[in-house]
Amino acid sequence: MTDLSVTYMGLKLKSPLILGSCGLSNSIRKLQEAERAGFGAVVLKSIFEEEISREVTSALKSDSYLEHSQSYDYISQYQEQISFDRLLNTVRIAKESLSIPVIASINCFSTGGWMKYAKAIEEAGADALEVNYFVLPADFDKTAGDYQAGYFKLVEALKRELSIPIGLKTSSYFTDLAHFMQQLSYTGIAALVLFNRFHSPDINLDTLEFSASNNFSRQEELANTLRWVGLLSEKLRCDLSATTGVHDAAGMIKLLLAGADTVQAASVFYQKGIEYGAVMLNDLKAWMDKHEFSAINDFKAKLNYTRIEQPDAYFRIQFMKYMSGIE
Ligand SMILES: Cc1cc2nc3c(=O)[nH]c(=O)nc-3n(C[C@H](O)[C@H](O)[C@H](O)COP(=O)(O)O)c2cc1C
Repeated sequence: MTDLSVTYMGLKLKSPLILGSCGLSNSIRKLQEAERAGFGAVVLKSIFEEEISREVTSALKSDSYLEHSQSYDYISQYQEQISFDRLLNTVRIAKESLSIPVIASINCFSTGGWMKYAKAIEEAGADALEVNYFVLPADFDKTAGDYQAGYFKLVEALKRELSIPIGLKTSSYFTDLAHFMQQLSYTGIAALVLFNRFHSPDINLDTLEFSASNNFSRQEELANTLRWVGLLSEKLRCDLSATTGVHDAAGMIKLLLAGADTVQAASVFYQKGIEYGAVMLNDLKAWMDKHEFSAINDFKAKLNYTRIEQPDAYFRIQFMKYMSGIE
């Protein structure tokens, strides 16, 4: 009997496939579909720090008198509460409707006001909290160290507030990625979620306006995640969930072989429907049967860089005919 179960952030998951935070995970019906398809857990759509601020600002902009009145603080707090109440409600309903773990998500860029609500997310029943935190290092007066200090401050503050496991989702845009990820893994977080995929800017040549492009990932984007999961997984003191570019069972298996504890995906389920998760899990089972693996641990991290004959393959970044077979 092939056993797909894994442990992630201290939670027992029936499979390593997680529905990543996205618009689909905002709908209870879609979350139930994910459970039926065999997903091990779901990460709810994030509440965004700026979403809260924007609601507050636009509510107040409509009344400039208010902005300067004593009611300002009261109203802005009220608006903040409404946004969070929506999130808390989703957490509560998801918990009532599902038996798989429900991971709440916050997308933030500071350790500001939203921190005071973290405890409420825990009390609403979330099994864990994934915090999507990244600050674009575009400030000419800040060093890498200044930016990195923000991460440690965030984790410290969250750990003071919460007893549920905390996952940190972030990007690969750091000067000393290996060292920094390892240091973060020592802070007591339960997992690193690598890597977040960014909104990509573009320019529309007809309207001469800024626009968005590439809302969904492509399969080729898996390579960056694969490299870093293979390099980091053995060296971290927390779990590792891999994301970006997983479009089929093959992508999921590669990341597990490189050492991921779980795999998150979003784009592919917009394109093929959530039920495609069941196909991916069936294909994973078939592959495990073919290779006579009865449990995920039988092959997880088998191709981590510390365990392969040619670890150089993970470090190689420049093209050479010898490596690529192309002149
Ligand atoms: C439409 C859409 C909405 C997303 N919304 C969020 C979000 O609210 N919070 C978050 O942390 N990630 C969000 N993501 C990122 C995904 O969770 C995931 O990390 C990323 O898309 C890479 O995985 P993929 O290659 O399977 O799409 C979103 C992705 C998509 C496509």
